[in-house]
Amino acid sequence: MPEHPRSVTRRFPGVSTLEGAGVRLRRSFGNAEVPLFDPFLLLDHFGSANPEDYLAGFPWHPHRGIETVTYMLDGRVEHEDSLGNAGAIEAGDVQWMTAGSGIVHQEMPKRSETALRGFQLWVNLPAERKMTTPAYRGLSAGEFPVETTDDGARVRVVAGWFGTVEGPVRGISVDPSYLDITLPPGGRFDQALPEGHNVFAHTIDGEVDFGPLSGAPARRGETVLFGSGDGVRAVAGPAGARFLLVAGRPLGEPVAWYGPIVMNRKEELSEALRELRNGTFVKETRPIVEE
Ligand code: CO
Repeated sequence: MPEHPRSVTRRFPGVSTLEGAGVRLRRSFGNAEVPLFDPFLLLDHFGSANPEDYLAGFPWHPHRGIETVTYMLDGRVEHEDSLGNAGAIEAGDVQWMTAGSGIVHQEMPKRSETALRGFQLWVNLPAERKMTTPAYRGLSAGEFPVETTDDGARVRVVAGWFGTVEGPVRGISVDPSYLDITLPPGGRFDQALPEGHNVFAHTIDGEVDFGPLSGAPARRGETVLFGSGDGVRAVAGPAGARFLLVAGRPLGEPVAWYGPIVMNRKEELSEALRELRNGTFVKETRPIVEE
């Protein structure tokens, strides 16, 4: 139970963005917000019932220096990468991919009967791990613990801790917490989080009140960044709410960013682009799955 709950300091409604080969999505934060969310670089939210908005997908493209975390709420994305991994990410699944020294992959949404909904979060790697061996974790919906509190909160733990329950994604450099929380109408939720971490929340459905110093409740689709404190307190609006709560240890390192490649120095970006041109970008082509 937090004694000094964090309040909201900045709010991000999200910006309509065209990505990949023409996928319509909303970017909650990205390049322009560095270093506010450190160690997080970008949060994209895709959600549409119209296949025209997403079928173009994200054909083969490189990543280096970061981790990309895809969390599907609805629908199906098929993926393939230069390590030889291939499969599908479906409702409730998480793909936590460490690009490290370099990975080339494609992420292709498939036509859904209902809607395609999900998130992609970019997590920065510390300087000493930017050129680490790439790795890939594919976790299916059933692998995540779901806890229900006395107040009726339902908490899905992707990474980090909720009470004594730890999420299955472990061994990540920035020691992240990644929770998916569903609250009944007026439901309360408290979460202690390390004081030194940066913390944000993204409202998936409904409205969430983060306390008297936080301003108006966070609305559907809104991302809020918290100030200092030892945790977060939330109360759902009259229709209930669902939100992501994400925290991580800031790196405090320089960021040099070019598209899907994020390093510390400009020279490292030039090097990556040179390697992409001459075909030496990918250092590892064996499938490596971290457990
Ligand atoms: Co990608």
